[in-house]
Amino acid sequence: MARTECVGWQFFSLAALVAAVAVLLSVGAIAQGTDGRGLEKPWMNESLSPDERAAMVLHEMTLDEKIQLVHGDGWGVLRKGSFVDPRSNLGAGFTHGIDRLGIPDINLADSAVGIRMAALQSRYATLLPSGIGAASSWDPDAAFLYGSVIGRELRAQGFNMSIGGGVNITREPRNGRNFEYAGEDPVLAGTMVGQLMKGMKSQRVMSDIKHYALNDQETGRTVVNVQLDHKAMRESDLLAFEIAIGISNPSGVMCSYNLVDGDWACENDYLLNHVLKKNFGFKGWVLSDWGATHSTVKSALAGLDQEMPGDDNYFNQPLKKAVESGQVPTARLDDMVYRILRSMFDAGVVDHPPVRSVVDPFRGLDDAQHIAEESIVLLKNDGVLPLQAASTKSILLIGSHADVGVLSGGGSAQVDAPGGDAANPRPGPSEWGEPIYFPSSPLKSIRSHATTASVQYNDGKDRSEAARLARSAGLVIVFANQPMREGVDVPTLSLPGDQDALVEAVAAANPNTIVVLETGGPVTMPWAPRVKGILEMWYPGIGGAQALASILFGDVNPSGKLSVTFAKSDADLPHPVVPGLETAGPVDSDDQHLKVKPFDLRYTEGARVGYKWFESTHKEPLFPFGFGLSYTAFAYSGLKLDDAARTAQFTVKNTGSREGTEIAELYTALPATAREDYKRLVAFQRVKLAPGESKSVTLVLNPTYLSVFDTEKDAWQLLPGDYTVLVGSSSHETPLHSTLHVRP
Ligand code: BGC
Repeated sequence: MARTECVGWQFFSLAALVAAVAVLLSVGAIAQGTDGRGLEKPWMNESLSPDERAAMVLHEMTLDEKIQLVHGDGWGVLRKGSFVDPRSNLGAGFTHGIDRLGIPDINLADSAVGIRMAALQSRYATLLPSGIGAASSWDPDAAFLYGSVIGRELRAQGFNMSIGGGVNITREPRNGRNFEYAGEDPVLAGTMVGQLMKGMKSQRVMSDIKHYALNDQETGRTVVNVQLDHKAMRESDLLAFEIAIGISNPSGVMCSYNLVDGDWACENDYLLNHVLKKNFGFKGWVLSDWGATHSTVKSALAGLDQEMPGDDNYFNQPLKKAVESGQVPTARLDDMVYRILRSMFDAGVVDHPPVRSVVDPFRGLDDAQHIAEESIVLLKNDGVLPLQAASTKSILLIGSHADVGVLSGGGSAQVDAPGGDAANPRPGPSEWGEPIYFPSSPLKSIRSHATTASVQYNDGKDRSEAARLARSAGLVIVFANQPMREGVDVPTLSLPGDQDALVEAVAAANPNTIVVLETGGPVTMPWAPRVKGILEMWYPGIGGAQALASILFGDVNPSGKLSVTFAKSDADLPHPVVPGLETAGPVDSDDQHLKVKPFDLRYTEGARVGYKWFESTHKEPLFPFGFGLSYTAFAYSGLKLDDAARTAQFTVKNTGSREGTEIAELYTALPATAREDYKRLVAFQRVKLAPGESKSVTLVLNPTYLSVFDTEKDAWQLLPGDYTVLVGSSSHETPLHSTLHVRP
């Protein structure tokens, strides 16, 4: 069967490598290295491959040392009263290295959008824009930069591994963690997160991608049994992982809390052994989400390589016993250890351990602002933007603490705000999940652009007072927010509280109203027709206010496009109510996911996630996937396809009077034999154009992105036939069409 095949193959190749290395060691054929103390450690020779070096270390290890590497040291600082290892760098995870062999500890820090818990040691960490925002830049270079900022700061703080890289697609738009991820499309999300992980590794820290797999909602995340057929899985959620892993060869993959088709994700033979290790060829190690290990033998045989954080104690003494009794073959334990060692050598953390230094907050700010400027999406502009600084007399900002800061996302992706929560200054760490504002003040940034205008702020708590003030302002900007966090989904797509009513009241009082959204995901906007402008700035990070002001005043021309579909109402989603929510506790409870009784969640929509669902069910979204406006205009022409090379060539022209960047999007509808009633995103490119300038763009159509997954053959299959290629500015605006012929 698949598992035996796969596991057997790994055992064989690893055993052969270790044996070969042992021979070379014994005859002294491998150049020797030393550890600086004069001890001979041949695996310290950097000219050897990570595989050779890992095999050499493994050959030297005792059973206890092997067991030591395959589990963490406990909840540590994450749980009050837990043991904190004195060697731990006080991140979310810690694994003891093997001093005798020069193998360093693994110090892991949560770092989805910046490094978590830095304040614990008076350290600073840059808050980057949320993942869903960065994905809205559609800029792989920005994603690489994002990862390298995190990697750089991890090293400076003394960590050698990140826990980040969330790539769960937005199957459930109310998922409390969507802000950590990269949107609804597997090609966009996989590309962006792959580049992010590459950027991280460029800084010589180990990378991790999560949460594998189908952990697409928080409600019931530790009890839900997700059901989805393998074809749909491979073409949607797993494709995002496949692409990201292919691009970046990450050190770790974190398996998730939920069950998939009856097996916990961390003891799921199909997901781990079969798809991840065999089909994707993943060479790193599988670590469990914190507390997501449920067994010793079953998990070990299904492909789990490391139990985190380690307190549940399945991979410590119980695993040792299971190996001694033969229930888990030694070769399997060796494979676990080998994967960890190999990843350490591969990422460079053995040869170049982190060196502590002071994080440079200014460099982080510049990088975060740059990414935010590309992430912000202009959704509506009735001629009100960009603002003219000289002729703007008075601006009123309303709501969302826009006087002091910008919102961030909660849970294990929370970064500590320098100086504490800007909206609620008080000593001590923040509570798990509470909304935290970062000191990037829209009021200050807007004032610094509109130097001759009166720029005031009202908190929006008293609607009639806000409307009264709005009446006499030249322009009103309402900041509306949707706090999101790990552990809890939002109950609806509506903005929380009475923010919709606030926007309506203000818009009725002043026709010059703009809305700026600070949301973790898509929201509904019943007031959209009555406001002049709408900007989605997501959780924009520490440079958010500066980025927003640059866009409002036209120093930066907006270029972001939605990485998720915005629905008109919850009723239009595949699941109008978040599955399991009916049995959950109150939606604002801290650990909603724990309060839900186990349930099955059948994803009947299959691979039709996001825009694919809307297209196949003929529903009109509020704003489609891939949509975003600019202060200039672009025209597309001249689509030419090359059937043999599978490339598309076309021209984009800036027809306006301002420099701008257009994201050109290429979609494909498969031949009828695929029986798909939606198109797929296949390629995209940012194109920077001066006024009047035209550029020819050539995009490569990756055959996997055009293929269907054949479960019989257990492989991607490119169907022969006619493929409709559509090119344009969004999933709804594709003026160029042509046919690609794929011959049998
Ligand atoms: C989260 C992970 C996180 C881990 C460690 C879990 O609750 O699901 O994403 O990395 O905790 O903090």
